[in-house]
Amino acid sequence: MEEPLVHKIVTYGDAVLRKQSMPVITITEDIRSLAKDMLETMYAASGAGLAAEQIGRTERICVIDVSYAHQDDEIANENPDTPMPMVLINPEITAHNGSQVGQEGCLSFPEIYANVKRSENVTCKYLDLEGTPREVEAKGLLSRAIQHELDHLNGVLLVDHMSHIQKMAVSGRLKRLKKESQA
Ligand code: NI
Repeated sequence: MEEPLVHKIVTYGDAVLRKQSMPVITITEDIRSLAKDMLETMYAASGAGLAAEQIGRTERICVIDVSYAHQDDEIANENPDTPMPMVLINPEITAHNGSQVGQEGCLSFPEIYANVKRSENVTCKYLDLEGTPREVEAKGLLSRAIQHELDHLNGVLLVDHMSHIQKMAVSGRLKRLKKESQA
């Protein structure tokens, strides 16, 4: 068994972040090791979620762990039956309702945060690492994380949710990121 690797995280400006992910057909050893690397990379960067595009891959896989926020009892009680971390293969949101607005960051946009409107609740279907079909009904922070990571898998980024004014406020940092990733 190989040790998981911490990968370099792709930042804004790299074309891979705009790619539509490809559904996983078979859960091979390569896919399992990709998922482990993604978890390792997310934890090393102190992130709450990571999509395959963020390490330069296009498989439809993301990982999420929002347990860091569980010191807050209210958040800990939002999704008590969903153990962390989660590995979601071929995830799709099948239902959503309500709305929430909250501050969001992204490992591909270091030091940039934006208020983003999301659904309060989502139902998400996915396969686990054994290939078993699963469904999670998520609310609050987990719901937000799932929506953010699924955006990545569809080539949609934090910047796409920013208002004109929000973008203006961080335009210098956005330009610098773009320049760095294209250098
Ligand atoms: Ni992100």
